[in-house]
Amino acid sequence: MHSPASLRPTATFAVRNAVLATCDRSPSDAGLLHGAALAVTNRHVAWIGRDRDLADAVDLDGARVIDARGGLVTPGLIDSHTHLVFAGDRAGEFALRVTGRSYLEVALSGGGIAVTTRATLAARDDVLFEEAARRARRLLQQGVTTVEVKSGYGLTVEAELRLLRIVQRLGQALSDQVTIVPTLLLHAVPPEAAGDRAGFVGRICDELVPTVARERLAEFCDVFVEEGAFSVEEARRILEAARARGLALRLHADELTAGGGAELAAELGAASADHLEEVDERGIAALARAGVVAGLLPLSTLFLGSERWAPARRLLEAGVPIALATNLNPGSGMSENVGLALSLACLKLRLTPAEALVAFTAGGARALRRPDLGRLAPGAEADLVVWGCDSAEHLAWHMAVNHALAVVKRGRIVHEAAPAVAVDCR
Ligand code: NIG
Repeated sequence: MHSPASLRPTATFAVRNAVLATCDRSPSDAGLLHGAALAVTNRHVAWIGRDRDLADAVDLDGARVIDARGGLVTPGLIDSHTHLVFAGDRAGEFALRVTGRSYLEVALSGGGIAVTTRATLAARDDVLFEEAARRARRLLQQGVTTVEVKSGYGLTVEAELRLLRIVQRLGQALSDQVTIVPTLLLHAVPPEAAGDRAGFVGRICDELVPTVARERLAEFCDVFVEEGAFSVEEARRILEAARARGLALRLHADELTAGGGAELAAELGAASADHLEEVDERGIAALARAGVVAGLLPLSTLFLGSERWAPARRLLEAGVPIALATNLNPGSGMSENVGLALSLACLKLRLTPAEALVAFTAGGARALRRPDLGRLAPGAEADLVVWGCDSAEHLAWHMAVNHALAVVKRGRIVHEAAPAVAVDCR
């Protein structure tokens, strides 16, 4: 018997016959519901329950209903750390690193970020936009429905503003498909400012940050705290200026050397401290006390040929919330491969597949301060993925291929994999 019509939500979209991972319980519990269904009204999840109760609980007249055929359905993935607006390639640098030069050696001898900055400066706006949109679409096709996008390859006030305007254009152009979260990133001091670092930091605080805040060009401000980039004191000055203007904070912390980045993130109440390959016990304790999310980026550790994997288990044991992201960028992570990130999180960070999935969904949402995303529950945004397999274990096991069969953004299908492309193991 149907529930009284007045009590039944009217669905605009539903997915049935699913193994639902709600990702709304704890860092280690994917919240699995077998034989489940989910209904959406307009852009929000309206109902979740047993598949056999769906037709009674929800008015499906006029709804688009898809059958997951026993497949896993998760929240849309949240890539909470990317640098996808850039031009040029760094393949030569990659080849050099393979023969033994380190990332830091290349960077300190004038390569690295400086190379991408020059190529980005020389590229036309349309080219930067199109390349970035292609990268975002590649992520979307693998189940990513929210992408944080950093500036950072401009370095000067004018050039960073230019990149943030391209990120803004990206957000507008893709708004129906992917949520773009813009971040102002201070990546390095430009060579021409090397003689007056304090003056450069002053221009960032007094010109760049106020303009970004006034024009609402970014939600977050991020600083790369590292040898050859910014010191803790410089980063504190920039981040305090950003916080005073209403921007939330994140940091690139303790990536190549342990430099007090995690402690600074905790001191300033940052939303996340990312990388953390070199974080020590003091840094971990500070993150835990302040509830700062640890953004883990295993594709970068692989790409740098390093064996210094972020201490994910220690972070979890200490109670630090974790997020998993791609860190798509030309210098330390030239890969959009979401599946590989999930597998490395298990193989090298020693997360369970469920922990990796939660970190890539609810964890990412927390890092971006978006509690409406990254979980499946009534009232949450209806961003979800139907996978061609039935478990998080399978996603991590069948490595570096794309299992995303259908990607749904705010209750509308925005990507369906072509049959020949989809890996469908259901
Ligand atoms: O997140 N670490 C700093 N930024 C990037 C690398 C940027 C580059 O080398 O182009 C990262 O790893």
